[in-house]
Amino acid sequence: MAIRLVALLLVCLALSASAQTDPVELLLAQMTLEEKAGQLTQLGTVDTVTGPVIDQGSLTHPPMQTVGSVLGIYGAERTRQLQQSVVEGSRLHIPLLFAFDVIHGFRTLFPVPLAEAAAWDPDLSQRTAHAAAMEASASGLHWTFAPMLDITRDPRWGRVVEGAGEDPFLGSALAVARVRGTHGDGPPNTSFMLSTAKHFVAYGAAEGGRDYNSADLSQRTLQEVYLPPFQAAVEAGADAVMPGFEELAGVPMHSNAPLLKGLLRGQWRFTGIIVSDWMGVHELIPHGVAASPADATRKALNAGVEIDMVSQSYSRNLPDLVRNGQVSLTTVDEAVRHILRAKQRLGLFENPYRYSDPARERAQTLTPQTRALAREAAQKSIVLLKNSGALLPLPKDLHTLLVVGSLATDAQATLGAWALAGNANDSVTILEGIQRTVSPATQVTYIPGASPTSLDTQGIAAAQQAAQKADVVVAVLGETADMSGEAASRADLGLPGAQDALVQTLLETGKPVVIILMNGRPLSLSNSAQQATAILESWFLGSEMGQGVADVLFGDVNPSGKLPITFARSVGQVPIYYGYRNSGRPATGQNPYESTYLDLPSTPAYAFGFGLSYTTFAYSAPQLSTERLASTQSLNVRVTVTNTGQRAGDEIVQLYLRDDVASVARPVRRLRGFRKVHLAPGEARIVEFTLGPEDFALLDDDLLPVVEAGTFTLFVGGSSTTDNQATFEVTDSRRLHALGPAIPRQLRR
Ligand code: BGC
Repeated sequence: MAIRLVALLLVCLALSASAQTDPVELLLAQMTLEEKAGQLTQLGTVDTVTGPVIDQGSLTHPPMQTVGSVLGIYGAERTRQLQQSVVEGSRLHIPLLFAFDVIHGFRTLFPVPLAEAAAWDPDLSQRTAHAAAMEASASGLHWTFAPMLDITRDPRWGRVVEGAGEDPFLGSALAVARVRGTHGDGPPNTSFMLSTAKHFVAYGAAEGGRDYNSADLSQRTLQEVYLPPFQAAVEAGADAVMPGFEELAGVPMHSNAPLLKGLLRGQWRFTGIIVSDWMGVHELIPHGVAASPADATRKALNAGVEIDMVSQSYSRNLPDLVRNGQVSLTTVDEAVRHILRAKQRLGLFENPYRYSDPARERAQTLTPQTRALAREAAQKSIVLLKNSGALLPLPKDLHTLLVVGSLATDAQATLGAWALAGNANDSVTILEGIQRTVSPATQVTYIPGASPTSLDTQGIAAAQQAAQKADVVVAVLGETADMSGEAASRADLGLPGAQDALVQTLLETGKPVVIILMNGRPLSLSNSAQQATAILESWFLGSEMGQGVADVLFGDVNPSGKLPITFARSVGQVPIYYGYRNSGRPATGQNPYESTYLDLPSTPAYAFGFGLSYTTFAYSAPQLSTERLASTQSLNVRVTVTNTGQRAGDEIVQLYLRDDVASVARPVRRLRGFRKVHLAPGEARIVEFTLGPEDFALLDDDLLPVVEAGTFTLFVGGSSTTDNQATFEVTDSRRLHALGPAIPRQLRR
């Protein structure tokens, strides 16, 4: 007993000694309530002719010098100056954090996240996230509001462009990759940046696809579909989490204590920062759950939102709320600790200027290496949707090539949404990419013809005339960059403006027409547009877009992308996704009383996981290590993939699983593995997957995780519609503590 008491005493002494030397605890002990509220305040910026300046609004309390972080200021020189004014002008000399939305690149732009998800390539996503962090951190930035992890099944929602699409497994893999890429080798390396998993959670389930709108969904769908990428990011070490703007089943995410405190802090043991979205704290008032800014502050902070982005509700209200006992000092201190710990991790207490290095900024911005990576990422994100008569790849020595569509020369569109530090002048447009790639003898004619932003059809006649003289017409069609992204939802998924009329006229000429799509969401092409000879989905691919597209168009690169989201035939089919449940009356076409439409098939235009290549691949039947296994065991699956065509190519091999009979209705398929293989013509390769209890598990009717005895069907192939299948049986049932780690097995370390 005495020995135990002595041991306890020693531990206490050690802890108090470390508190006395721990800079975070030392600072906390000295801070006033106002200074603490300052650390929990993040200021935004307003644009001026000389660039963004800090928007101090009516900030009087606390003074600028005690604010904890700012959003939107970058540049080694500017961040150094501001840091200096804060560090030297404040009582406690606490450095600022500089935050920014580095979503898919900084100065060098990579494909928008939805596009890059089409590469199904976590290694690539890790490399682009790292390159973005290198560039952004060299510009003085410490913290990015990425990765965006919102699953969505609704392409009307403009922010579909920022995420990885509809699938939680692919989304989790890419979440892990992006967090790791943002971290790089970790501190003390100055290319390490803090990451933010956002927008927690189900923001992508906005009703009607309208941004900021209510979400209302079952606990099952929340847990099975929307939460996994966040859990994976937390397991991978995400540094911050940002709640969504939406209200989920009546509880705004900025006051959602059960999810922020109960799940995120409690069950998942998240120890990083919870930062509000822009004005999210204040918006509790229009949501109708807070009566005043003070009330909003109390609710948000007590629910776990620690940093108030922009609204200045905390800075004005927090000290009084603590004084009158509505928010506890312990809550405030814990929040302040989280932000101070982040500053400590970044090494800012030793040197507040370590990220603001003009020489590094010059050396690490828009380099040949980042451009090469942008080109590689662009090439790998393109999805070939149609290629009648093997029209593509086009020969480089065509006699005449007509390029139409205003997007062909729209450099801004190449950048996509969230390209705040990007410069359209750095981008290769599609027309430029084509001109650089064809033979000197090829005559490339460009006629805009139509634009996504205008219904004017007057330019179409000139395009029609030119088409008659051309060997091939390349029509660059789709959306401008601002037609997707935040507050950019659309109620229609067709080609906007006069583009449909243009393509229809071109098709009437009888000339081969290649459509190159530029867009931030799955579009639903009209029947006439779908008659084009070939269709390349090329999204918004960033600084090297035009070159990447030309590389694929003319066959220097064989396309390998696969859709990370279902393309509906019409907006009327939305929501449409591959992991649906069967219903009691699935569509077989044999009975009128089935789950179908009268006016459209119920199948999509292009399925999840679909994408063509210039070569063809054949799959052997899946070989299983066993056909019967216990609930504790794992299963090995092997399939031989052969390149049966004439060109080398990459194939993304996908494995889906179906629980044939369970206590609750299960999705018809769930993605549980994928691998990319490169195969020379004629080459065959064995691709292996391992499945384990977390792949077989489900939530039962009490939402408790369990593996249930019974048969499963697995499918391995090149899209979610593959019929290449095998069955196996799990012989016993077993309760689990949890559904299992969210990081996909292939990315676990
Ligand atoms: C967006 C966030 C973003 C924040 C800061 C908000 O409007 O919803 O995704 O990180 O602004 O720019």
